[in-house]
Amino acid sequence: MKQYNILAFGLCLGFSLCFAGCENKQETEKKNFIEENIRFAENQTQLMLQATGEPNGKNYPRTMKEDGELAVTGMYDWTPGFFPGSLWYLYELTQNEQWKAEAEKWTTTLEPLKTFTGHHDLGFMMYCSYGNAERLAPKPEYKDILIESARSLSSRFSENTQTIKSWNYRRAWHDSIEWFYPVIIDNMMNLEMLFYATKVSGDSTFYNIAVKHADSTIKNHFREDFSTYHVVDYDTTSGAVLDQATCQGYSDNSTWTRGQAWAIYGFTMMYRETKDKKYLDTAIKATDMYLKNLPEDLVPLWDFNVDQEGYIPEGRSYAVEYREKHKDASAAAIVCSALFELAEFAENTSYRDKAVQMLHSLASPEYRAPIGENADFLLMHCVGSIPHRSEIDKPLVYADYYFLEALVRYNKMK
Ligand code: GLY
Repeated sequence: MKQYNILAFGLCLGFSLCFAGCENKQETEKKNFIEENIRFAENQTQLMLQATGEPNGKNYPRTMKEDGELAVTGMYDWTPGFFPGSLWYLYELTQNEQWKAEAEKWTTTLEPLKTFTGHHDLGFMMYCSYGNAERLAPKPEYKDILIESARSLSSRFSENTQTIKSWNYRRAWHDSIEWFYPVIIDNMMNLEMLFYATKVSGDSTFYNIAVKHADSTIKNHFREDFSTYHVVDYDTTSGAVLDQATCQGYSDNSTWTRGQAWAIYGFTMMYRETKDKKYLDTAIKATDMYLKNLPEDLVPLWDFNVDQEGYIPEGRSYAVEYREKHKDASAAAIVCSALFELAEFAENTSYRDKAVQMLHSLASPEYRAPIGENADFLLMHCVGSIPHRSEIDKPLVYADYYFLEALVRYNKMK
């Protein structure tokens, strides 16, 4: 009997030591992976800063021109908040004061946007920049700037449609169709700033607008299989849905993968901010639809239905003539970051494992740029908008932003 006890004790000890050893090895691999990616991102971003020069309100990095040079935008486009946001994530990952100083410089040039009401993207513009500034290195003035930005965004909300209007009037790809109140799935991403504004101001108006917008989105943007329409157009008076269509996707009935990514991220955030289970349920269903359609390397095509039977691009869309099956690493980066958070809320370890695999895929030579190339952006092979014949197989500043956010989340993951 005594011999058996000694044997059992020996086996247990052996397993424990082996388990601890494996765990240590995994931890070391994770640490090395994160550190190597941080080093790469720091070096590449130093080069990017040499290319931009000092921020001047007109030189926010966006993508790469055909000749390989950096393409920048002014502040009223939808993307100026991402580069400052990436600088904040570099600061969070390294605690290096140089990144904080750069992040502050690039953030504060955006202050004039606090009163901007020309489109819905103020959440991206101000919360990725000032929101991260407030989180990592708060200053008293940031609160007021963010509250004012939330007020500007809220001015686009209508009680008739129960949504925030994304864009002003525009025509669909079919020239005969006009949109007077277009709302796009991307708009879910702008709501996070509204929750912040209610928290710090005590004014529940912002919170209520976010919830109403999200509820209308559940009702009108999702198909039965939890894929999403990109655009929903509303009647401005009755609030009736007039059109369900695409602007950046392949066809009206297809699934534009970045749109699906915004839905996954947006409803995960809605659950974080409200703890209402219906948002968690929506995020899970949208995620499962997305995961089911992924190729082996977990980076999706720019639209799940490119060139498939039953999906027909129409009108002036460039997709009518252009059928190449490009991947979109920006969609992968957005979902990767969201999945780290959703895995915790849904207590789903397979989501967490998928997020880690996605991050490794994005950090592989297939998608991560060689140092000094790719106009100094981190990730390659993204798609801005094929229907607009714009940013096809190029880097995109928001792909880098969500890649760094995913690294931050992975780093914090237990
Ligand atoms: N929000 C615009 C886009 O995702 O391209």
